[in-house]
Amino acid sequence: MSEDQTGLLLLAIETTCDETAAAVLEGPRPPRLGVPTIRSSVVASQVGLHQRYGGVVPEIASRAHVRQVLPMIDEALRRAGITLGDLGAVAVATRPGLVGALVVGLTAAKALALALRIPLIAVDHLEGHLYACQLAYPDREVYPCVGLVVSGGHTSLYLCRSPLQCEFLGGTIDDAAGEAFDKVASMLGLGYPGGPEIERVAKEGDPTAYAFPRSFLHDERLLLSFSGLKTAVLYALHGQNAQRAPTQISEDRLRNLAASFQEAVIDVIVAKTRQALLQTGMKRLGVGGGVASNSRFRERLLRMATELGVDLFIPPPGLCTDNAAMAGIALPKLAAGLVADLDIDVAAGLVRPGRNG
Ligand code: KG4
Ligand code: ZN
Repeated sequence: MSEDQTGLLLLAIETTCDETAAAVLEGPRPPRLGVPTIRSSVVASQVGLHQRYGGVVPEIASRAHVRQVLPMIDEALRRAGITLGDLGAVAVATRPGLVGALVVGLTAAKALALALRIPLIAVDHLEGHLYACQLAYPDREVYPCVGLVVSGGHTSLYLCRSPLQCEFLGGTIDDAAGEAFDKVASMLGLGYPGGPEIERVAKEGDPTAYAFPRSFLHDERLLLSFSGLKTAVLYALHGQNAQRAPTQISEDRLRNLAASFQEAVIDVIVAKTRQALLQTGMKRLGVGGGVASNSRFRERLLRMATELGVDLFIPPPGLCTDNAAMAGIALPKLAAGLVADLDIDVAAGLVRPGRNG
């Protein structure tokens, strides 16, 4: 078989926040196009290190990435049954994320690209979250679609004409959905990360027990906000202006607060996503990010999509939360000739393509 016909093996690295991850994907050698398959994907979670602080501590995250990144790369190669010499390209998420964390992944990727003389591809973490939908449904066309990213740092809607052409349509003006889950979980005395904890407790609760606010619900702009909701949970717990001293809350109250909060978040995101679908006329919806692993959310999205006759693409939970496989978006980038120079830097802040410049 000629070299063109063999697959290209890509090493992908992810260190944007608090997971150190590496993956090996195999895809058609550019310029041939096609959806890569995941040969291996490993994630070292830092949850245990950040738990006691109730959130991610950037310096601790960076140091843990330094310790974990090479073992994760070794493990991903081992599980894929290959060695460094088999790699045809290396990809890394260079934005957005914590600056010190991003630098660790990028430095490792640059070193490999230089030493192995293979192309380096820089990927956008958010575009990667959406591309996870294509990885999860390799035999179906996911794009063009409305893309919804719901993670710890972002709650954003995009019009994605292709994996590499995502135009920002709207999103949260304050907290991201995942961040709201984490903060409310901390108020309720639940563990970190808060999303899975709230989901667990909410299962037994009454989602109508508290009438929490749903900001911008009837506003046609694609704006979301969770800060009022967060404050409303605080007042429900500790009284108006949070003056009441914290008291032990009963299991029942805890469950109802969690269920009512979760339902309010879901109501708003589902409504805004519905608006985005109607406004753009898109018949496909791709969803990614940690919050998309929430089963109640998945159920509500499916109901809405079915009602609109829209195809819903939502990856299995392990491809929703941070992972390196989603950096497989590097293969269409490579096919488009988008190779990074070795002097490329990270971009910690959000770079919004399209409408907002
Ligand atoms: O995408 P992700 O792994 O990392 C970022 O890019 O931020 O998302 C992490 C966020 C956390 O805020 C976490 O609480 C939330 O996703 N999350 C969930 C669930 N699992 C993770 N939120 C709600 N329900 C879940 N089951
Ligand atoms: Zn993420």
